[in-house]
Amino acid sequence: MKIGVLTGGGDAPGLNAVIRAVVRKALKLNYEVVGYKKGWKGVLDNDFEKLTLETVSGILHRGGTILGSSRTNVYKVENGVETLKKNMKAEGVEVLVAIGGEDTLGVASKLHKDGVKVVGVPKTIDNDLSATDFTFGFDTAVGVATEAIDRLHTTAESHNRVIVVEVMGRHAGWIALYSGLAGGADVILTPEQPFNMEDVCEVVKSRAARGKTFSIIVIAEGAKIKTEENTDKDGSFVLSSLKKDSFGHVRLGGIGNVVAEEIEERTGFETRATVLGHIQRGGTPTAFDRVLGTRFGVFAAELIQRGEFGKMAALKGNDIVAVDLEEATGKLKTLDPKLYDVAETFFG
Ligand code: F6P
Repeated sequence: MKIGVLTGGGDAPGLNAVIRAVVRKALKLNYEVVGYKKGWKGVLDNDFEKLTLETVSGILHRGGTILGSSRTNVYKVENGVETLKKNMKAEGVEVLVAIGGEDTLGVASKLHKDGVKVVGVPKTIDNDLSATDFTFGFDTAVGVATEAIDRLHTTAESHNRVIVVEVMGRHAGWIALYSGLAGGADVILTPEQPFNMEDVCEVVKSRAARGKTFSIIVIAEGAKIKTEENTDKDGSFVLSSLKKDSFGHVRLGGIGNVVAEEIEERTGFETRATVLGHIQRGGTPTAFDRVLGTRFGVFAAELIQRGEFGKMAALKGNDIVAVDLEEATGKLKTLDPKLYDVAETFFG
């Protein structure tokens, strides 16, 4: 049997650990493996390389993905599904292992219904994929953000400043919440909880009143401000660009600066914003992400061996289990309100 592996969407530390694990386990099962380049694009362009013991050697600790990635949506390309099936058939590729987040696995789920044999592995630093307790990449991103918050703390304190730290998280505030909790943030702002500027400034002022003349505010890029004109519960996004990718996502970013300016104006405290951006996605994965990615990769090959297609490897408690791709991609996993309640205990 020949298996095709692909990595789609934004990269996440641990992707190479998954690729290596799929290949090592598949070779043990006497399967052949090819790696498609740049996600679904590689299958559509028939652009692939053979993956062997040698090609996956020395990649476990490396960030990024040796296969490259793109945000190509098969269903937005004319005759995409037919082309994909034709190319797979021509090369004798019977099954695909799609390593990705909501978008990549959403395509995988649809392809399964359209008769393509596919299994999924959950990846995203945002940790917003349903049906798995954690995605790989999240732990590394939280570690990077926490270290940044620690560093920003000391400079904020030395200069009596407010520092707003913008982290990734388009629709879910997992990175903001975990790094904010770990780094002792004074306020954490997430997409799930649209906020008032007044409330944020109140925290800064009340801290000053008890002698704390600096504050750290962690904000997810997808957090929404409630304004007087826009008092609905959803608030509105701050965008860095109006361009949309093939899954219809706009480019977020910049809310940290908007909030920093407002705080300075309303409280008189000198305020700075730091946008962590893609630093959270780059570089070497933590041991946790390497182990999780490796377990997911081995499990994906086992799913193929058992003929369980249309499934995704998922972490439930301490076990790796199979869940339906449809269940994983039907709806985003937003923050557990109980966790936000814990974080709120430390605001102010
Ligand atoms: O990987 C998911 C994510 O980190 C989102 O939080 C963020 O909005 C997006 O990727 C940005 O990705 P890119 O700059 O690659 O489009």
